[in-house]
Amino acid sequence: MFSNSQNPLSRSVKKSLIRRLAIGGFIICLIIAVYVLLANRNDVGGVVVYRMIQVTELFNSLAAEHLNSEGSLDRAGLQDSLEELIAMPRLKMKEGQFVYAGIYDLGGHEIAKLTDPDFEQIGAINGFMENASHKLSFKKGILHETMRLQGKLLVRTAAILTNDKAETVAHIEGMYAVSPEVISEIRSRIIKGILIGISVVIATVFLMYPIILNLLSRVSKLTVNLLDSNLETLQVLGSAIAKRDSDTDAHNYRVTIFSVRLAEAAGLDQHSIQRLIKGAFLHDVGKIGVRDKILLKPGKLDDEEFEIMKTHVKHGLDIVSRSNWLHDAEDVVGYHHEKFNGKGGYNSGLAGGGIPINARIFAIADVFDALTSKRPYKEPFPYDMSIEILQEGRGTYFDPALVDMFISIAQPLYDLLSGKDDNIPQEELGGIIEEYFTKASAAY
Ligand SMILES: [Fe+2]
Repeated sequence: MFSNSQNPLSRSVKKSLIRRLAIGGFIICLIIAVYVLLANRNDVGGVVVYRMIQVTELFNSLAAEHLNSEGSLDRAGLQDSLEELIAMPRLKMKEGQFVYAGIYDLGGHEIAKLTDPDFEQIGAINGFMENASHKLSFKKGILHETMRLQGKLLVRTAAILTNDKAETVAHIEGMYAVSPEVISEIRSRIIKGILIGISVVIATVFLMYPIILNLLSRVSKLTVNLLDSNLETLQVLGSAIAKRDSDTDAHNYRVTIFSVRLAEAAGLDQHSIQRLIKGAFLHDVGKIGVRDKILLKPGKLDDEEFEIMKTHVKHGLDIVSRSNWLHDAEDVVGYHHEKFNGKGGYNSGLAGGGIPINARIFAIADVFDALTSKRPYKEPFPYDMSIEILQEGRGTYFDPALVDMFISIAQPLYDLLSGKDDNIPQEELGGIIEEYFTKASAAY
């Protein structure tokens, strides 16, 4: 009855796989894009550093006599050297040009400065350099940082100037404007790099999708097989105790359906209803541990026999607690004989909301089915009388709110199931199992 033959990999799982692959691919594309951007930026920095090394060496040789002067540095001499340096044809480069050059002493004070007045953003560069700190913060090598001023890509760079005793006496700072040709070349390299990266990611995702889908499908089939086995265990155990108790499977089916419909009306979540189904099916599994003499006694049980009969709750808990999958049934198995007012229960003396809600739901379903069913010792009670008996138990036997809820949904359930053969309840229960186990498992 509970076996499942549908395609185990649902559309939602496939959608989820596509979504995750797309998100993963997008993140990788972003990482590639950032990497390509930074790599190209560093390339620009690398070119400028190389030029700055040349500039520094040239300047050191051009201004040697002014850098070696005793006392304060020779401002006019350094200014002349700077102008001589910038005018040198070898500093005209296709990658760009220095549009600002400044010499600063060890205290960060400007000694000499030369700017390119034709450069459009020179005003912004002057403003930036006036506000910037020029204190020497490094002892060797060349510093550089890429920046944008008024949308123009610039590289600020600095290098140490030494005298002939290799002592640091000043430093030179430059602002290098990258040429539009180079910027355009960088831009096309970035776009090309990103496009290649995106193509590789998309191709990988397309290759991975069928492989992952195939693996997921295998895992899903195994999961469905496992679920089928677990559901079979549930059915077999429930059926075994029904036979032992001279009952039919139909009782188990009906109480499970009544319980689930009441739980749905009460707004229980899917997981709680799964627990309820297991519990309803196995509610009396502990009767396996009760002797035939007592279990099958036609007449009323005496006090001692009744105490033994009550142990079926304890036996039931012992049985279901041994299985990871079945222990969800504990709520119903352990507490289905508890009374709402806490008086006369079998197990714990729990009362009211302290009794698990699944047990409170099941107690109503179980009694309603017992009242409306034919038993060896009685004919089925009519619907109205059965409802009246439930109402009499409001607040004493049963949770009053749940009784009211059950009464509001009971008539169609009674019409559909009560007094009917096994096929109808079985079909209805099949739908419930599909809804709460098979679909839930496939969706997961
Ligand atoms: Fe019971």
